[in-house]
Amino acid sequence: MNIPTVTPYELLGGEAALLTLVKRFYALMDTLPEAYGVRKMHPRDLSSSEDKLFMFLSGWLGGPQLYVEKFGHPRLRARHLPFSIGAAERDQWMLCMRQAMAEQIADDALRAELDKKLADLADFMRNKAESGAGGLPPA
Ligand code: HEM
Repeated sequence: MNIPTVTPYELLGGEAALLTLVKRFYALMDTLPEAYGVRKMHPRDLSSSEDKLFMFLSGWLGGPQLYVEKFGHPRLRARHLPFSIGAAERDQWMLCMRQAMAEQIADDALRAELDKKLADLADFMRNKAESGAGGLPPA
């Protein structure tokens, strides 16, 4: 039996909506003073970052696996190891993503679900040992 399921990708509005979300995310990262720490880790020209995040999220949300087709397994945590990511960087990244989602996703349930899953993923990217609450446990 073939039970059709609606993916988050479709709920979001497909390719055009995802592209708009990703562009807004990086535009916010580029302009919000609170996100300067995370902005300065990225290349001056954000267009390749935009392309890659768009391709990754396309597959991650249940749409076409564009990133995997082009680059293979994302190995997302490994690819972030060259950058020092702690709670502050995680929170700055999420600040931009949350604002972009708040502006663009009218469906509260969808927005809440994506917020939770992206926050978990962003938390998993942390690789800097930090003392105090929110830090990684000692090695
Ligand atoms: C937690 C805070 C995060 C920081 C500080 C961060 C920072 C960075 C930096 C500096 C790069 C390299 C520049 C570039 O290629 O654009 C990068 C690449 C990338 N990031 Fe993040 N990132 C974070 C979280 C995330 C999350 C949660 C996702 C997925 C939802 C993500 C997806 C990607 C992708 C797909 C790439 C391109 C990887 C490649 O093929 O080279 N990042 N990130």
